[in-house]
Amino acid sequence: MQVAETVAHARAFFDVLPRPLGYVPTMGALHAGHLALVRAARDECTSVAASLFVNPLQFGPNEDLAKYPRDPEGDREKLAAAGVDVLFAPDAAAMYPPGFSTFVDAGSIGARYEGAVRPEHFRGVTTVVTKLLHVVQPDVLYLGQKDAQQTAVLRRMVRDLDFPVRIAIVPTIRESDGLAMSSRNAYLSAEQRAAAPSLQKALVAIRDALADGATKTQALAIGRGALHPLAALDYLDVVDAATFEPVERPNSPAFIVGAARFGTTRLLDNLYVE
Ligand code: PAF
Repeated sequence: MQVAETVAHARAFFDVLPRPLGYVPTMGALHAGHLALVRAARDECTSVAASLFVNPLQFGPNEDLAKYPRDPEGDREKLAAAGVDVLFAPDAAAMYPPGFSTFVDAGSIGARYEGAVRPEHFRGVTTVVTKLLHVVQPDVLYLGQKDAQQTAVLRRMVRDLDFPVRIAIVPTIRESDGLAMSSRNAYLSAEQRAAAPSLQKALVAIRDALADGATKTQALAIGRGALHPLAALDYLDVVDAATFEPVERPNSPAFIVGAARFGTTRLLDNLYVE
C-alpha cells in the first residue's frame, strides 16, 4: 500500500491507478464496518483507495474531536491487509491551509435530525468529501448505511453538483447483540455497552408495529418503550430514504432512524424499509 500525505503526492498516485477506482473515506479507528466497505470496493473495482482524516470541520465546538479514537498505525495495517492500493492520510494543514474559507452547504436534507442536533456537522462532511473526491477522483464512492442521513446528503450533493462518481451503499455491520459497529462504541462503559443494543431493538419494534398496522404515533411509542432506561433519546422517526422528510408510513423506500445518548456517547442507527 502506498501512502500519500499531501494533495500533490496523492494525485500523482491516483492518476496512474488502473480503473475502475473504488474509494473508501474514513476517519480511522477502523472496525469491521469500514473493512466491509474496503471488501466491497476490492470485489467490484480494479484499484482501491482509502483516506484517513479526522475532519475537524464536522465536529461542533463542544464535541469529541480531541478525544475521537485514533490508531493511525493500526489503521494502516488493517487497510494494507484488506487490499487498499493507495491511502491518502493528510493532516489538517494539508486539507485546510491558512486562509481556507470555502464551504459546501449541505442543503435541506442536512438540516434535519443529525443536522438539527449538530448544526455544522453536514457542512463539514460535504466540504471535506468534496475536497476528497477532487483529490481521489474515484469511479465509485463506498459509504456505510449506518450513517444513513450522511449517505442521503452525499447522494444529493453528488447529483446537484455533478460529481462524476457512483455511490455504493454497504449494509451496516453489527455486533452479535445487534449494536451497529461504530468507532464511538469504544467510549461506552460496560453498563452503557449492555444498554446500547436497545437502540436497534427500538427500531425493530417500530418496524414490526408499523407492519402490524399500528399508526406512526403508536409505533414510535412502542419504540420508545423498547429503549433501555439508560438511553437519553434524541429522536426516533420514520423518514423518506432520499429526502429525510418525515413520513407517516413507509410506503416508498424509507428509513426508521434513531439517535440516543448513553452517558456522553451519542449513537445512531437506522433500518431500511422498502
Ligand atoms: O463517515 C465518516 O467517517 C466521515 O463522515 C467521512 C465520510 C469520512 C467524512 O469525514
